[in-house]
Amino acid sequence: MAEKPWQGRFDQPTNKLVEDYSASIHFDSRLYRYDIEGSIAHCRMLAECKIISHDEASLIVGHLGEIQREIERGKLPMETFQEDIHMAIEQRLIQRVGEVGGKLHTARSRNDQICLDMRLYMRDVLCQTRALLLDLQKVLVALAEQNLDVIMPGYTHLQHAQPVLLAHHLMAYYEMFERDDERFADCFNRTNVFPLGSAALAGTTFPIDREWTAKYLGFPKISANSMDTVSDRDYLMEFAAAAAILMTHVSRIAEELIIWSTSEFAFIEISDSFCTGSSIMPQKKNPDVPELMRGKSARVIGNLMSLLTLTKALPLSYNRDLQEDKEPVFNSADTVLSTVRLLAKLLPEIRFNRRRMAEAANEGFSLATDLADYLVRKGVPFRKAHHAVGQVVHFCIQNGKKLQDCTLEELRNFHKAFDSDVFSFLDLATAVDQRTSAGGTASSCVRKAVRSAQLALQTKQESLDEKFARNNEKQPVT
Ligand code: ARG
Repeated sequence: MAEKPWQGRFDQPTNKLVEDYSASIHFDSRLYRYDIEGSIAHCRMLAECKIISHDEASLIVGHLGEIQREIERGKLPMETFQEDIHMAIEQRLIQRVGEVGGKLHTARSRNDQICLDMRLYMRDVLCQTRALLLDLQKVLVALAEQNLDVIMPGYTHLQHAQPVLLAHHLMAYYEMFERDDERFADCFNRTNVFPLGSAALAGTTFPIDREWTAKYLGFPKISANSMDTVSDRDYLMEFAAAAAILMTHVSRIAEELIIWSTSEFAFIEISDSFCTGSSIMPQKKNPDVPELMRGKSARVIGNLMSLLTLTKALPLSYNRDLQEDKEPVFNSADTVLSTVRLLAKLLPEIRFNRRRMAEAANEGFSLATDLADYLVRKGVPFRKAHHAVGQVVHFCIQNGKKLQDCTLEELRNFHKAFDSDVFSFLDLATAVDQRTSAGGTASSCVRKAVRSAQLALQTKQESLDEKFARNNEKQPVT
């Protein structure tokens, strides 16, 4: 067993329980590629600044590349005694090149090294999350466009409220995911700051060039304060918060898909390939995928709480507590990426039962507001109109009628302003298309919303392609 790099000051070997308890290698080994990328950049900078020679740097860089290939071929076992990914790679480097490998860690600490690894990793996660969200938004907009003529009940309190277009309902989720994307884009800006060179906490005595390394790794700016840098986990909390909000949005659409596929609603059918059966009840076809999406939002919300609690009241600067940031972040990233990817595949697998949705929209007196609005147009104050229509509804309930079944005389019993033209307003399509206020459900508005979303997504696609070209080549390591 190799000696620990910090063994010099110690008389006794580490207790095995301590070694197991403090090791992070079983979860931070997934950062190997970022660790090596950061080490290569750091090593080249050390040579640029004449802290090590160019020959030494070339040797180290060459072997770091080899070590990456070893890891990818499963040839470098990750063992608990190595503690973390940084030491596993450094130890292997020294094994391969001898003492000169020990020069790599000049002017660097694991405290700033882990910050760099995580920022490189998070840049990839954020780019990939945004790319997958873009796909999801495209799917929603395409579905909205295909269903521009489908009317369904709009709900408040899960009670029939007013008829809406299915496309309008779908575009509501487009808007939620648009705000999610803005949050991830904003988080990217604060993630994209270069931490290395802060060293343990106070900076370094060597004449390093942080700007050089930052530029090499594509960071537009370097962090300002070394103590803040090794302690700062804000960008991870921001990611976890954006992820938690996104997952609550996902849980809402998941819940609707679950309700809509019950035989009571029967608004949709999810294709067999996205459902599962029951081991006991032969008739069952269960919406397990949306149920799991709804369920997995719990862990992502929990991860945010873990990170906030982890950092609360933590004194400056680096504390080992901070090692506990990784698992919640990885878990939120993995969950968000797999969920968004699957949701974009699931939605096109849904068959909407247009007839059932329209029938349901006709139930529950959903045109009552239209009847009141009709009276208002005849000059009746809204509050009076509301009261009169309330009485009409009461009359209908007692007589087992729908609003449109009432005769003109019956309506006129409740208000004299009702006239023969009232019946043309008691129509679902008319009710929908009259809601032309900006952002309303009228098909003219929804068509416009779909069109402008298509243009916005096109522009976003182009800017993502261009802005994150470097990051999109990579997939975050899982
Ligand atoms: N595994 C540690 C972490 O994730 C590495 C950072 C430095 N470790 C240390 N003992 N100072 O935070």
